[in-house]
Amino acid sequence: MKHITLDITNVLSKTIGDEGIDRALLLNIAAKIKEFKKTVYNTPYPFMDFGLLRSHLNDVYKVGENLKGLNIKNLILLGIGGSSLGTETIFHALLDPLHNIESDKRGNAPRYFILDNIDLHRIKRVAELVKKENEETLLVAISKSGETPETMSQFMVFKDILTHGKDYKKRIVIITDKNKGMLREIVKKEGYLSLPVPEGIGGRFSVLTPVGMFPAWFMGIDVEEILSGAKGMSEHIENADYKKNLAVIIASILYAMDNKGKPIHVVMPYCERLNAFADWFRQLEAESLGKKGRGPTPLKSIGVTDQHSQLQLYIDGPKDKFITFLYCVNESQYIPESIPYIEELDYLAGKDMKELFRAEFLGTRRSLTDAKTPNITITLDEINPFNIGALIFLYEMVIAFMGFLYGINAFDQPAVELGKIYTKAIMGKKGLEEKRQVIEQELTKKRSIIEF
Ligand code: PA5
Repeated sequence: MKHITLDITNVLSKTIGDEGIDRALLLNIAAKIKEFKKTVYNTPYPFMDFGLLRSHLNDVYKVGENLKGLNIKNLILLGIGGSSLGTETIFHALLDPLHNIESDKRGNAPRYFILDNIDLHRIKRVAELVKKENEETLLVAISKSGETPETMSQFMVFKDILTHGKDYKKRIVIITDKNKGMLREIVKKEGYLSLPVPEGIGGRFSVLTPVGMFPAWFMGIDVEEILSGAKGMSEHIENADYKKNLAVIIASILYAMDNKGKPIHVVMPYCERLNAFADWFRQLEAESLGKKGRGPTPLKSIGVTDQHSQLQLYIDGPKDKFITFLYCVNESQYIPESIPYIEELDYLAGKDMKELFRAEFLGTRRSLTDAKTPNITITLDEINPFNIGALIFLYEMVIAFMGFLYGINAFDQPAVELGKIYTKAIMGKKGLEEKRQVIEQELTKKRSIIEF
């Protein structure tokens, strides 16, 4: 079996009629990308520059040299959006589900806590733990801008706790822009270990830079293999004919589906280890393409769990959805004949649970196809660092190609910035007094409220 296989049968009009896309139309869109692809590979975006990514892997190893000899039991990772979702994807796919709970599941690696929110319910508990195990904790703060209030406030809290421990400066690593931002200023002033987020690579495209590679390396994950997988995928995208090109065809389908009145893109992993990948992709698609009144709306659904939650809507609700299944072959678990007196359970007894899992996937896909809900399936032969790198890079390219099709800049996020400015204004940041007034006025106005 190949590493990654794409099945587009159920999106074609020859399978599902008018709700699908005609192959000729699909190839028309793909042909447009074909030309753009040449331009892109002549002048690659920084996230496609494997020389650069490779050299930053060496930087990761150099920082690692400085951490030798420390007895780290807890990795605390601070970051939000593109600064944490890539790491979450890699950890969720490649570490054991009981990693934090059972020491034999994590080998020499520490426990990890990715703090991508400032809701205190979690932060305060982790802070208590760090107070107890201060000298066994490594703090990694990641922010491209080095200014994000969530990450900065977390850093201020956790740095303050660490200062109570011996040699605390050796146990802080900062990953941020090489030259700009407050975090860089802090590195210079306080002398922490640091790694760069390369110029021209925004948060959601940064997982293959030190942003995702340092935490992955620190947990003992084979980052060389992740990069090899990404590079292998890049070579496929560069060289494969556009009709057989994974990124070109997926981008064309996603674009065609949105244009066909199916703007809701459901990503449904039938593969527990890819659940966090769906979160990463949700951000990549939403923040990159949601511009100028257009862009698909990504949703995450979990197979098989959401068969019992969302599937009714996907089959019998509005015909505005398109599904991407992510499938991987499951582990084996024999279902014992432990309840012999109930004959109706015979169809399960003595079978392998992975066969049930597969049957549920096939059954769901079939029922969606019968209802003419277009869907594609991406199958991974195995969940390993190589395939994860390949899958990440594949979707980064899909989104870059879609940006071209929509005629928008996929690499900025202007609409998110205003909310950040209001937040800082409310908190009293100098220079934002006018914005603060807007909010204060809003709060004095009579509001429409219903109470219990
Ligand atoms: O993709 C993006 O650019 C964003 O999601 C950012 O990653 C997020 O806003 C965090 O920004 P920063 O890394 O500057 O703290």
